[in-house]
Amino acid sequence: MSRSIAIASRSLQRLTARPIARQAASRQFLGAAPHRRLHLPLYRPSPSLSLSLSHSTPSSSSTRSFSTTKMAPVPATMKAVQISKIGGPEVLEYTEIPVPALGAGQVLVRNRFAGINYIDTYFRSGLYPAPSMPLVMGREASGEVVAAHASVSGFAPGTRVAYMAGAPSAAYAEFTAVDAAKVIAIPDQLSSEEAAAIFLQGLTAWTFIREAGEVKAGQWTLVHAAAGGVGTLLVQMLKSVGAKIIATASTDEKLALAKGYGADYLVNSNDDIVSKVKEITGGHGVDAIFDGVGKATFDADLQMIALKGHLISFGNASGAVPPVNILQLGPKNVKLMRPIVNGYVSERADLEKYTSELFDLVISKKVEVKIHNIYSLKDAAQAHIDLESRGTTGKLLLKIE
Ligand SMILES: NC(=O)c1ccc[n+]([C@@H]2O[C@H](COP(=O)([O-])OP(=O)(O)OC[C@H]3O[C@@H](n4cnc5c(N)ncnc54)[C@H](OP(=O)(O)O)[C@@H]3O)[C@@H](O)[C@H]2O)c1
Repeated sequence: MSRSIAIASRSLQRLTARPIARQAASRQFLGAAPHRRLHLPLYRPSPSLSLSLSHSTPSSSSTRSFSTTKMAPVPATMKAVQISKIGGPEVLEYTEIPVPALGAGQVLVRNRFAGINYIDTYFRSGLYPAPSMPLVMGREASGEVVAAHASVSGFAPGTRVAYMAGAPSAAYAEFTAVDAAKVIAIPDQLSSEEAAAIFLQGLTAWTFIREAGEVKAGQWTLVHAAAGGVGTLLVQMLKSVGAKIIATASTDEKLALAKGYGADYLVNSNDDIVSKVKEITGGHGVDAIFDGVGKATFDADLQMIALKGHLISFGNASGAVPPVNILQLGPKNVKLMRPIVNGYVSERADLEKYTSELFDLVISKKVEVKIHNIYSLKDAAQAHIDLESRGTTGKLLLKIE
């Protein structure tokens, strides 16, 4: 037995409640050969796992390889950042809590980088209701699999993975128990840092372009907050599909960044956006608007949208959009959407397809991963302060030592 396998075996003994189940889990998980290189087992369900999974094999996957790394023992407790009440960044508590127990269909991931996302601030502030308190924050991370429930097979110890899961997914922590169906192996061409930085926001940008906006080459598109995490990805991805891109942002520096990523026209969001956009498009308006700003820009969106345009309102950075009078959509036959990324990747086949396309965009350098800053886990509150200050561009990450 190799050293990494022996370590994982000892670790598993702390993770399962009943000794018999524990031994079964250890046998199943450790029975796999200790692969040094894996050839595309993105996920292999055990016959006992009653999930309906479709296994699309992405065309480019045959060129990818997947390596494993040696794992340290799993301790009984871990560092995590949680909230016990709603409020400002000061309610984020850096604390010590038990390592989560594995449930059926789950793997335990030793997180290396957790993504900071605007949605984390919504749960912290109470805009979105917390499913339980205390709530460990965070919806996405990258790291290595250290253990699997008896009902799961296919993840060798040390397999590098990324995941995005709904609340409570608890990614601001050293370890997270995640549904295996939500976990994707990271190819060797991508670092764990890049994978965490691209996963949630990249899937958001890409699925919203493909499924919500159905953007075609030559169409007019507009990206609000174009220098942000989702914004920088939207601009680059819209470029890759041949759209004409109008970028908005609140400073010249941010607009210059958007231009560098391929934006064709720049509008400072402090200016009269509607008249500038009418001028730029020659009166046509915008065929697809991507708006994560929300309350502050929604009315302008309705004025700028083209006949039969797609208005994709997907966030609340400036506050939630108030209830909409549906009659406002009539004059231009507007397709108004308020999508959530998880709905486009809830089926395993869709998650694999879109993740594969996303990884290809990064590996082929059509999309650059822009990281604003990497904070220590204990400095999560500072990351929230920075994100909400409008002073950041690109992605914010937590490094979990
Ligand atoms: N629906 C989904 O599934 C989904 C998934 C991921 C993200 N999102 C949403 O996408 C949006 C962007 O998320 P992100 O994490 O990438 O954040 P981000 O864009 O990096 O940061 C938010 C940006 O919004 C702009 N903004 C405008 N008014 C603001 C205000 N009053 N307060 C703060 N910021 C303001 C700022 O850019 P300027 O200074 O240039 O205006 C700011 O940098 C968020 O609304 C988020 O909830 C939705």
